[in-house]
Amino acid sequence: MTTNISFLLNGDKISYEIKDHWTLLHLLREEMGLIGTKEGCGNGECGACTVIVDKLAVNSCLYLAIDVDGASIETIEGLASTNGTLHPLQQSFVDKGGIQCGFCSPGMIMSSKALLDENPRANHEQIKHALAGNICRCTGYVQILESVEAARDKGGQNE
Ligand code: FES
Ligand code: FES
Repeated sequence: MTTNISFLLNGDKISYEIKDHWTLLHLLREEMGLIGTKEGCGNGECGACTVIVDKLAVNSCLYLAIDVDGASIETIEGLASTNGTLHPLQQSFVDKGGIQCGFCSPGMIMSSKALLDENPRANHEQIKHALAGNICRCTGYVQILESVEAARDKGGQNE
């Protein structure tokens, strides 16, 4: 079965005919070509597919596309400004070495964004907790936590 859904994607109004069994990850990557959101495990264990739906970080591999009808979705593609200036979280991940191969980075950044949007003063433990579902096979996490803390300390502003 197919269903026509409407949603906001990075602030743009979208209307899309979807198959009812599609996941949000499939819709974003395979149908819409937004490949910044990664597919790692495909079953809710790695966090590589994290996007924000109505201000909450979700695993898009477990989220049915039909459930975003009427919702507002944010993906990594929506973070940099149109002139190419990176979002403070993206810039901090670059500056602090929070990115190595980069596969986990979109998910890490979206989980961090959901946290800092809700709590701009999140402490170390709260950041760790927010990233508990995001796995990185490269960095060992110290640089990732430092990256989020640096973005928090900049208060959402690039230097
Ligand atoms: S791909 Fe969704 S949690 Fe791993
Ligand atoms: S930077 Fe490679 S998986 Fe995290």
